[in-house]
Amino acid sequence: MPQAVISGTGLYQPPHIVTNAELVQAFNAYAEAHNTTHAEAIASGDRMAMVGSSVEFIEKASGIKQRYVIEKEGVLDPARMRPKFQERGDDELSLMAEIGADACRKALAAAGRTGADVDAIFCAASNMQRAYPAMAVEIQQAIGAGGYGFDMNVACSSATFAIEQAVNAVRSGSSKCVLVVNPEITSAHIEWKDRDCHFIFGDVCTATLIESADTATSADQWEVLGTKLVTQFSNAIRNNFGFINRSEDSDPLARDKTFRQEGRKVFKEVVPLAAAHIEGHLQSLSLEPTQMRRFWLHQANLGMNQLILKKLVGGEAGGDLAPLVLDTYANTASAGSVLAFHEHRADLKPGDLGVICSFGAGYSIGSVIVRKK
Ligand SMILES: CC(C)(COP(=O)(O)OP(=O)(O)OC[C@H]1O[C@@H](n2cnc3c(N)ncnc32)[C@H](O)[C@@H]1OP(=O)(O)O)[C@@H](O)C(=O)NCCC(=O)NCCS
Repeated sequence: MPQAVISGTGLYQPPHIVTNAELVQAFNAYAEAHNTTHAEAIASGDRMAMVGSSVEFIEKASGIKQRYVIEKEGVLDPARMRPKFQERGDDELSLMAEIGADACRKALAAAGRTGADVDAIFCAASNMQRAYPAMAVEIQQAIGAGGYGFDMNVACSSATFAIEQAVNAVRSGSSKCVLVVNPEITSAHIEWKDRDCHFIFGDVCTATLIESADTATSADQWEVLGTKLVTQFSNAIRNNFGFINRSEDSDPLARDKTFRQEGRKVFKEVVPLAAAHIEGHLQSLSLEPTQMRRFWLHQANLGMNQLILKKLVGGEAGGDLAPLVLDTYANTASAGSVLAFHEHRADLKPGDLGVICSFGAGYSIGSVIVRKK
């Protein structure tokens, strides 16, 4: 059976930073305007007054200090509170495909490959901008790849779930060179008007190239020792946006048509699941958590990563063992753990072991155990 290696990663980084201070200023202006507009209803008890957000809370509760976004003005406009994207014609490259192709080209360059070497592309993200044709097929054309492509969505675990499909395709011999691409335009599905979650997400796109070890030529190769996926149904993170909405005559701007979560419940339920998942996966390969040189964990919350790491090895998250990227990028949905892997692996030596692990809506947890070649 051919061995699979990760031979390169690429990152599309959006052009704009939104700091917590800018975010809170916009949110508080929106809340104040809301309270003024609805002063009578609030006074009579028919409507709740909105309460302001705070930079201190955001940093303490999540560890997030800023986020990147593709479009900033609409997000920070208290009269809009969502990005303003230009609608594109059918003959133009779609936004997801544009940032996807950018990250793919960078991953290919890092691995010493071109689009012509690729025989499969999996576009894996927590939201898709349209139903069809698949963004993966559009990216395939944009980078000049052969073979086939398809889109898949397992929310924040989309990337690790797609990496398993890519690894299996290589191991089965059906593909030699597979791209997994994660265009996460989270700014378009977060509710910027909701104090509980307006600070959570940021936009990026990551790409990972998985190749057969027999033919890979990259100077930076990571042998995939194993992948393990699990799902368990939960409504604690949910988004009801979908094609059935118009037939239900529901309001397309209603609160349930964007990201919602019970953050505290998610925190409490996912931490033990993720820690047990990683431990079980390592055990199945006769490995111990203490043998891991690095944990590239999902980037949703500093406290969650601290607890997971504590359960596994007793160490501190945020440092050398489990680096953070959420302070600068926020939660980038499925791209988070791949982004951590992209930015924090150059110092590892041949033989060093590590775990890429995502966790999120579904619930879904995916882990990929790698060894530097
Ligand atoms: C979202 C999250 C950061 C919230 O932190 P938390 O400590 O759980 O915060 P809570 O929602 O319990 O709120 C705590 C208090 O802060 C307040 N608060 C909430 N948002 C606030 C804001 N933006 N500014 C100021 N205060 C805020 C709440 O009203 C609450 O006040 P109360 O104690 O008086 O009721 C955290 O729960 C989390 O990250 N969970 C995991 C999420 C996750 O992994 N999701 C996966 C998505 S892919």
